[in-house]
Amino acid sequence: MRFLAFIAILAFTVFACGAESPKEQNSTKKPAAKKKKKVDGEKVYKQYCVTCHGVYGDMGASGAFNLTESKLTVDEKINVVTNGRNTMTPFKGLLSDAKIKAVVEYTEKLKK
Ligand code: HEC
Repeated sequence: MRFLAFIAILAFTVFACGAESPKEQNSTKKPAAKKKKKVDGEKVYKQYCVTCHGVYGDMGASGAFNLTESKLTVDEKINVVTNGRNTMTPFKGLLSDAKIKAVVEYTEKLKK
């Protein structure tokens, strides 16, 4: 009886793997690769920046700069976010370089 059950499980496993592996490779591999490559700047922004800059970048809480009117270049913004400026928090130890770059690129989209 036990042996039969083992055979049944084995047969099922082989069948399941044989039937599903080509499909699975196509559907699960892509999103995982995408996730690793690109940080979601919008997500970072909503998590760390909205408290002062607001969802649209123009809230200006505690004197935060209106990001929709920023004239800084991407590199200059990366510098402000990394090292802070006056009352703005430095994000150096908080966010990775990749996240800072992604969030700065997101702020570029807030411009009108
Ligand atoms: C604690 C409130 C606060 C938080 C949180 C904050 N900021 Fe700021 N931010 C400020 C203030 C205040 C200024 C203006 C600094 C000054 O007067 O020199 C500023 C300025 C900036 C500037 C410069 C704009 C310019 O054109 O001069 C950028 C870019 C910026 N913030 C991006 C961000 C990003 C991206 C985040 C999230 C990772 C963030 N900030 C989080 C308060 C904040």
